[in-house]
Amino acid sequence: SQAEKGGFPHFMLKEIYEQPEAIRDTLRGRLDPESGRVDLSDAALSPEFFEGLRKIFFVACGTSYHAGLVGKYLLEALAGIPVEVDLASEFRYRDPLVDEGTLAVVISQSGETADTLAGLRLARDKGARVLGIVNVLGSTIAREAHRVIYTHAGPEIGVASTKAFTSQLTVILLLALYLGGLSGRLSPERARLLARELVEFPGLLQKLIPKVHPLLKELSEHYFRQENFLYLGRNILFPVALEGALKLKEISYIHAEGYAAGEMKHGPIALIEESVPTVALAPRESGVVYEKMVSNIEEVRSRRGPVLAFGTQGDEHLAGLSTDFVGLPPVSWEISPLLYTVPLQLFAYEMAVRRGCDVDQPRNLAKSVTVE
Ligand code: AGP
Repeated sequence: SQAEKGGFPHFMLKEIYEQPEAIRDTLRGRLDPESGRVDLSDAALSPEFFEGLRKIFFVACGTSYHAGLVGKYLLEALAGIPVEVDLASEFRYRDPLVDEGTLAVVISQSGETADTLAGLRLARDKGARVLGIVNVLGSTIAREAHRVIYTHAGPEIGVASTKAFTSQLTVILLLALYLGGLSGRLSPERARLLARELVEFPGLLQKLIPKVHPLLKELSEHYFRQENFLYLGRNILFPVALEGALKLKEISYIHAEGYAAGEMKHGPIALIEESVPTVALAPRESGVVYEKMVSNIEEVRSRRGPVLAFGTQGDEHLAGLSTDFVGLPPVSWEISPLLYTVPLQLFAYEMAVRRGCDVDQPRNLAKSVTVE
């Protein structure tokens, strides 16, 4: 009903707007911005649980899998632990190299996804420690994991995952800060800076969402008749490109592919023409990969492909190169997946609305996939 949607036309939009609060709830009591220290005692986690850890395996499906991909970038960089990421449906049928030195992190909003649950059981049977990142309290995955960090995003009704994803990213950041501290790879100064930025992030997002929403709504007017999209990102924003493409395809039924921008020349550039727009993620702060993204955008434009670029506000160079440009505030590399995800959700939402799609209940999809 309208009341349940809190005045929003769809649950999905309500849940997009709830993200600042959801991230605040995820962080609550777990991060001290003064010291940069992470406390995961609400999940019964202490340094002993991680003793002798040699490898981390993220196992999940769909959007939760994309959170795991971001986790690889974060944990390897901040904690220096080798990370593998697997789709649960692959992991469970391929005899993965898992042993007592492995931490399996299973990520699931619902806590009931059949393949993810099977992956959990397999990892546990092989002697791994299993940590769940779960939204639904008391769900099967939450009960069967050795430990669980709840995302505390609140109930997510829309089939397209939005606030659950950004809450998962937030938990993974906490885990990276925690393990980075334990390993000594993350300096206390850097930890403090990141902690402060993370605590301030919900406030930033709260101001940003109502500001960029009208712009994305307007942009959807130019793009909603297209049937094929490419989403490009690099490094930690490559999984965000995958997630942006998944959002668009599942709710608007537009074919969208996420790609690591460096792969363009290995195939997808053949698709580029006037009727195939590219969504490009190119924050100026992303160092060497920024220049690489700029080259990729030039390559697309020279083949007459429209480019909708998301980058750092005030980046006139990028704005000039692109067909359309959405400027976002500068943030640290670690935080950038959280930030860049949100405008892509709003874009997918507005595209689906213009196409008259059933945003909250897309065809053929279920909120929780409890059968294979
Ligand atoms: C996301 O928008 C999806 N509808 C879907 O990919 C989902 O993320 C996937 O089914 C995993 O669900 P879970 O997080 O509840 O395990």
